[in-house]
Amino acid sequence: MNDTPSYNGPERVFSGVQPTGALHLGNYLGALKKFVALQHSHDCLFCIVDLHAITLPQDPGTLAANTRKIAAAFLAAGLDPRRAIIFVQSAVTAHAELAWIFNCTARMGWLERMTQFKDKAGRDKERASVGLFDYPVLQAADILAYKATHVPVGEDQKQHLELSRDIADRFNRQYGAPGFFPLPEPLIKGPGARVMSLKDGTRKMSKSDPSDLSRINLEDDAETIARKIRKARTDPEPLPATVDGLAGRPGAANLVGIYAALAGISDQQVLDEFGGKGFGVFKPALADLVVDALTPIGKELARLNADPGHIDAVLQDGAERARAIAAPVMADVRRLVGFWGN
Ligand code: AMP
Ligand code: TRP
Repeated sequence: MNDTPSYNGPERVFSGVQPTGALHLGNYLGALKKFVALQHSHDCLFCIVDLHAITLPQDPGTLAANTRKIAAAFLAAGLDPRRAIIFVQSAVTAHAELAWIFNCTARMGWLERMTQFKDKAGRDKERASVGLFDYPVLQAADILAYKATHVPVGEDQKQHLELSRDIADRFNRQYGAPGFFPLPEPLIKGPGARVMSLKDGTRKMSKSDPSDLSRINLEDDAETIARKIRKARTDPEPLPATVDGLAGRPGAANLVGIYAALAGISDQQVLDEFGGKGFGVFKPALADLVVDALTPIGKELARLNADPGHIDAVLQDGAERARAIAAPVMADVRRLVGFWGN
């Protein structure tokens, strides 16, 4: 691999979020907060991935409403449509087209290793949609249609990003085009890459958890946030003095991690302050921090949700700008593959 020329185009950031429900603190810390920071240093595209959403059954009216809601959450969290391109995946046909071409590059064996498919398909794999199996190939197409080099995501997307790199590398070799696609790098590290459920510190906080008490939504008001944190499952011991003491205490470790991520300090610094203190002291302090971070976003979200015309204008403009970046990439891809007329 080292003797082949590598990609030497410009850096570009791409990430996607599924419109499958309201965003929560895990999405905020694992993804959105990083998006907002990156828009100041990089060319960025942030995509609402509705094609991915339909790999599981969706009600059409709800899907359309959720798509606007995610766009509103992007803006409320601080994304600026003059800096970053915000758009909907299905509005740019390059995603589906490139996914098909990548279907013929990716190998069954690669996809069969994907743990998210195993989790989402559950016991009855025969009944899962073909799209659910193919999900990570579409994700590779999302990223590479723009030759994106960096992808901010939570920890759960690590394996999918490795697959994107494998697809890019294989395509480049298969079509004798070394360095055509970049091998995209995940940006995962940092506090908040894996926020866990408030009800079970061994499972990730998720939009699809049936219990609303398991997560803090960007839309929750101060009182709801405080109540959810008060009810979060922990244990009767006081907080330890050092990070080692969090081993085997997933609920406590999760709350300390959330505090650290929001305060911009390390877990150890949180314990320097709260070590030896009980949850009766720590939980209210954490609730204050979460409320301070989320309630301004929640208020802005409510304002934007009442202005769908503005959201649609942002998405329309974003789709046009995204198409303009993908078009020359797709023209080159068609030519490399040997499609007629290119
Ligand atoms: P999704 O809601 O699955 O579309 O995820 C959108 C983004 O949020 C992706 O980058 C995920 O990796 C990230 N994310 C989702 N859940 C969590 C979590 N519990 N902790 C950290 N990041 C998360
Ligand atoms: N699979 C991602 C998730 O569930 C969403 C996604 C789709 C994505 N396409 C992407 C993330 C491209 C990063 C880059 O969170």
